[in-house]
Amino acid sequence: MEKSSANMKSCLQPLPKVLVSCRGLNGENNVLAVAYCGNCSYNPPMVMVGIVPTRYSYQLIKESCCFVVNLVDKSYQETFAYLGSHSKRDDDKLAAAKVRLADGKKVNAPILPDCPVNIECTIVDSIMTGSHEMFIGKIEYVHADAKLVDAEGNIDFSKINFL
Ligand SMILES: Cc1cc2nc3c(=O)[nH]c(=O)nc-3n(C[C@H](O)[C@H](O)[C@H](O)COP(=O)(O)O)c2cc1C
Repeated sequence: MEKSSANMKSCLQPLPKVLVSCRGLNGENNVLAVAYCGNCSYNPPMVMVGIVPTRYSYQLIKESCCFVVNLVDKSYQETFAYLGSHSKRDDDKLAAAKVRLADGKKVNAPILPDCPVNIECTIVDSIMTGSHEMFIGKIEYVHADAKLVDAEGNIDFSKINFL
């Protein structure tokens, strides 16, 4: 197979893309689309998300030290696209996109009940890698639609129609 040199920027395209929800200390909620997301420890269970400091959500996440990672399925595609292309700085995007929120169980950030899995995290560390600050989140609680969870508590990811 012949190879050619390709761009280094975004040469990994991790899936699934997620929605990260957050709440500032004044109670303001926000949600943004995030592709920079992955597991980074299973003991203790931790995930990381990468947020660009110019995002409106960035300050909310910094001050509250927590966030929720929401897995998105195809039924939420339009909402995902809206939340990833509009900033709360410019308009009340949660109202415009009719996003339903519910309180987290363990952290002071909202979950998106219309998403099949919601992962509540508290920030234990972060690293400014360059364009993004990578926030390391210790998982405090995982909500999953009941039909996805087996008797041992495992999520059957094959049942989620990911974006
Ligand atoms: C597919 C997709 C992936 C994205 N991934 C990220 C990401 O990993 N980190 C980030 O900071 N912004 C990412 N964005 C951009 C934000 O979601 C977008 O700038 C959003 O409007 C920010 O909202 P806010 O300013 O209300 O926080 C992504 C957008 C899309 C559409």
